Amino acid sequence: MPDARIALVTCSRLPELDPEDATLLPVFADRGVRAEAAVWDDPDVDWDAYDLVIVRSTWDYAPRRTEFLAWADRVPRLANPATALRWNTDKHYIKQFGEAGIPVMVTTWLEPERHFTPRDLHNRFPAIEEFVIKPAIGAGSLEAGRYTSTSANSRGIAIRHAHRLLQEGRSVMVQRYLPSVDTAGESGLVFLNGEYSHAISKAAMLKGPDSEIAALHRVERVSAHTATEHEIETARAVMAAAIASIPVFAESGQAPLYARVDLVTNDDGSAVLMELELTEPSLYFSFGEGSRKRFADDVVQRLGG
Ligand SMILES: Nc1ncnc2c1ncn2[C@@H]1O[C@H](COP(=O)(O)OP(=O)(O)O)[C@@H](O)[C@H]1O
Ligand SMILES: [Mg+2]
Repeated sequence: MPDARIALVTCSRLPELDPEDATLLPVFADRGVRAEAAVWDDPDVDWDAYDLVIVRSTWDYAPRRTEFLAWADRVPRLANPATALRWNTDKHYIKQFGEAGIPVMVTTWLEPERHFTPRDLHNRFPAIEEFVIKPAIGAGSLEAGRYTSTSANSRGIAIRHAHRLLQEGRSVMVQRYLPSVDTAGESGLVFLNGEYSHAISKAAMLKGPDSEIAALHRVERVSAHTATEHEIETARAVMAAAIASIPVFAESGQAPLYARVDLVTNDDGSAVLMELELTEPSLYFSFGEGSRKRFADDVVQRLGG
């Protein structure tokens, strides 16, 4: 499509995009596509004016999910589509995946409707090892904490953490802290238009209890990673399950424009899903040779040529 115009969507604290995404602009320009940054909650943006609107660094959405999804519903030609964002921004999809046979982290789900007392929470935490508390709707590793089961002090802080989230009406996930995250890290496998593209390794994000962080996300330490065949196979199964679960993909046969499958390693060495990112994943283009061009080519194809 000649003279196509697209928006790369960001947040008001990163109005010029994440530096990695900013490197896409000349790649689009080379293909005759005018790409520009646009802030999702900027009332002056005319979303109808774009041939495609691509969500990138909307990293402030989690505390404002309802508003964010209402925005997504209003935007025509959004990638990934609003219904996929609605499905993906609540980690309850992990429960659905587990039931569908995808290897997921064993999770205790604490729902606010149950009105758990601190004692109930105590009884639902693991008795041994370390564990994680995180909100089902959350991003950037914010409001997640790591606790020691056998320490009364740590358990007490964990109870207060979970209780606070539940009192705010939020669902809470409790998981065993997988020790391999400290040694091997977490693998992020990037899929562009449904095709596996490249991978990175991310070091452990949680050192201790939840603490208030003013940043958009916790600081990440990312390095190059060659995904194993087993990781790629597992990530492909995750992608297939997501496509089957989300009608906008299942019915159109179209894959998500972008996705990242985050895997960690279980005690037996097998890969297990930490999360699937279909909303606003960093895509780490600098770690995938040719990935910017492939991404831009996929976009051009969606623009009709
Ligand atoms: N069960 C777990 N074991 C070890 N580390 C975990 C676990 N759950 C979360 N983490 C750490 O917390 C980070 C954030 O958790 P994640 O589920 O990916 O949420 P977010 O959507 O905030 O990225 C992960 O990247 C990982 O470092
Ligand atoms: Mg994550």
